[in-house]
Amino acid sequence: MEKRYKVLFVCLGNICRSPAADGIMHHLVAEQGLSSLIEIDSCGTYGGHRGELPDSRMRQAGAKRGYNFNHPSRQICEDDYYDFDLIVVMDDMNYEKVCHRAPERKYADKVVRMASYCRHHTDRTYIPDPYYEGREGFELVLNMLEDGCQELLEVIKNKINSGS
Ligand code: 4NP
Repeated sequence: MEKRYKVLFVCLGNICRSPAADGIMHHLVAEQGLSSLIEIDSCGTYGGHRGELPDSRMRQAGAKRGYNFNHPSRQICEDDYYDFDLIVVMDDMNYEKVCHRAPERKYADKVVRMASYCRHHTDRTYIPDPYYEGREGFELVLNMLEDGCQELLEVIKNKINSGS
């Protein structure tokens, strides 16, 4: 069987931004019939929410758009650096932590910023943490993630097609 392309989304708690990115990407990949080619997962740099479902505010905001965010939180581990082809972080703090924990420097080359894939929401270089925000914070995150995931999927499809 062909090797699957594996992408890992990372935020702080793995209860708001990264499980939403994970759910949106699963949705897009399934819609385009690519589930057998692309594997998606998410995790956090902080392990304090381990085993929890996504934040109820994010689940509700996602459900209104037709998503089912149901990924149980987990913390990033060393194997993630070997297993995944691309590690997509939400903000600068995630970027620093994920690069710092890489088992060897070369694995930090797999780390990219989610906001760099946004084609419409270009005024920020990070996906803002909605945890202490109101409803608008969650809607903004979803808008940015839907924007970025579309472009990210195009980039991944090109990588698969070119064999890189
Ligand atoms: P996330 O949001 O990183 O998008 O999952 C947060 C979740 C939990 C906390 C902060 C941000 N916290 O402080 O526990």
